[in-house]
Amino acid sequence: MKVLLDILRRENAEAAPWHQCIPFETADTNATVASALTAINADPSLRDTEGRPVTPIRWECSCLQKKCGACAMRINGVPRLACDAQLADLGETVRLAPLGKFPVVADLMVDRSGMMQQLRDMRLWLETDEPAADPDALAASYEASRCLQCGCCLEVCPNFYVDGDFYGMAAAVPVSRIVAEADEAQMADLRRAYRSHVYEGCGKSLACRDICPAGIDIEGLLVRSNAAAVWKRRRKGRK
Ligand code: SF4
Ligand code: SF4
Ligand code: FES
Repeated sequence: MKVLLDILRRENAEAAPWHQCIPFETADTNATVASALTAINADPSLRDTEGRPVTPIRWECSCLQKKCGACAMRINGVPRLACDAQLADLGETVRLAPLGKFPVVADLMVDRSGMMQQLRDMRLWLETDEPAADPDALAASYEASRCLQCGCCLEVCPNFYVDGDFYGMAAAVPVSRIVAEADEAQMADLRRAYRSHVYEGCGKSLACRDICPAGIDIEGLLVRSNAAAVWKRRRKGRK
């Protein structure tokens, strides 16, 4: 299999971006964007289409099994996980660019610490050891716990900006886990945070719904959280 990787490169946060087109060939029919980047970085003799050397491409990965979210980037314009993007499905030219909502560190690597700070701002941890008694709430909690914090949903959201007051689904999905299990004392603070940072900023367009690489039921969790945190519907198994 032969593809041309068109990579948006940048030396550092201040440098101007530029495109580097790198021919890539592999016998592995299951090769992914992640395995291609790994192979390219392991070959110092590689040249691009203009004969220039290919210096190591900065990108992030950890699990290579769709579990950590670190390798999220724009692939042919769509935010997705590099370790879950098979070259065979991507056409002859594969365009790679960093996620656009976060500051770029270098090449395909972005700084997602703002997203993590937003989770801390919302105090997204449980203050009780007691699990929710209701099996339906536990199922919702489990569904929410599958969030990778990859940021793909933020990339397609028209209302999310990294320094804005609206924190997007990367916060709203973990909120729904806490909503499912929190006691009423914790819910009072959480309701205020949820209204300010999720409910009031979300346009409900659901552009985020189908992009999640973990396949999380974003719409279902949003409906549950709105019911509990905004409309104060009683949650089963909680006083
Ligand atoms: S429903 Fe629309 S506004 Fe709300 S988080 Fe999803 S994409 Fe953003
Ligand atoms: S909800 Fe899905 S797309 Fe958004 S951060 Fe979590 S795993 Fe990524
Ligand atoms: S490297 Fe962990 S999700 Fe891709």
